[in-house]
Amino acid sequence: MQDQFRRQIDYLRISITDRCNLRCIYCMPSSGVPWIPHEDILSFEEILRLMRISTQLGFRRFRITGGEPLVRKGILDFARESARLPGVDDLMITTNGLLLPEMAFDLKAAGVHRVNISLDTMDSERFREITRGGDVSKVIQGIFRSLEAGLNPVKINVVVVRNVNTQELPSFLTLAKQYPLHIRFIELMPIGLSSERRADFVPIEEMKEILELKQDVPKEDILGGGPAEYFQPPGYKGSVGFISALSRHFCTTCNRIRLTADGKLRPCLHSKHEIDMREGLRNGSTDQELLDLFARAVWHKPAEHHMNEEALQGQRLMSQIGG
Ligand code: GTP
Ligand code: 5AD
Ligand code: SF4
Repeated sequence: MQDQFRRQIDYLRISITDRCNLRCIYCMPSSGVPWIPHEDILSFEEILRLMRISTQLGFRRFRITGGEPLVRKGILDFARESARLPGVDDLMITTNGLLLPEMAFDLKAAGVHRVNISLDTMDSERFREITRGGDVSKVIQGIFRSLEAGLNPVKINVVVVRNVNTQELPSFLTLAKQYPLHIRFIELMPIGLSSERRADFVPIEEMKEILELKQDVPKEDILGGGPAEYFQPPGYKGSVGFISALSRHFCTTCNRIRLTADGKLRPCLHSKHEIDMREGLRNGSTDQELLDLFARAVWHKPAEHHMNEEALQGQRLMSQIGG
């Protein structure tokens, strides 16, 4: 359906858990965060009901996020049920990739179309530092297992943090050159923990200078419905993309809303405004009543975010929203 600014909103990002098996420095404190209690998390049946209702409003693309979505028990059955719902044309997962070596083929068999995998560095020591303990070889294995499994396209998310991985950006180009992988360099957004990391922010223009990207003609056939702008230098099997949430925001073409693991619809990533769906789900609301609430959330999507002026502090961490 359209929102009040005539944007077509057909993409739902569903966070199925706030839990994660990593503690990335820009996302979670080293001590972790208190998890949302199990009973407050939507069951898969509740999520499937909301998905079905959203398809009646024209939602067609669904991205499963977390925390880390692959740590939730029953994810494969949930993916299978989701993929079967009439109206679900695109089913995707954003993951840190640690569990992909054993799960990529099963996800594909369950009906997942494609995956986006976070990988901020290929250096094992630096990876351990950024994620506070993760094993990069698992993620790299997971990336290749995803390609073998036929998940397509496979996109890599590189959040760029000054003096942490800036020096390493050019080595990601090799990956896009040699393999059909779509590397996206992402501006660090001031949300949750990162709201205190403004000094670590690297704008896209500076990333392009570091990368010495000569060819600058955007690739037209966008791979998926997201905000990245892609380039395909000659001879590359994959492509190089940029997600410029701050320096050149893409709110006028935004097509999505979010559902948090505890059942709140968030019309905008960077707004505290939330609409509670769980209450209705658990108190006998009819499908029509839930549909009306959903439609209201879409209609009230704000025109744009205000990240450049104010950080989103307090309230939720990125892991509790799903990116
Ligand atoms: P596709 O293009 O469909 O593959 O998805 P995507 O790139 O939007 O999804 P992904 O989960 O891989 O997110 C990549 C980055 O984009 C993350 O840093 C997200 O936080 C960011 N992102 C996704 N949606 C939005 C949005 O609506 N606004 C902003 N500012 N950032 C977003
Ligand atoms: N800014 C930009 N991207 C972020 N992500 C997590 N925190 C931030 C942030 N502050 C990314 C993750 C993952 C995706 C869901 O969001 O690295 O790839
Ligand atoms: Fe986990 Fe992703 Fe947050 Fe890292 S960025 S701690 S992988 S949710």
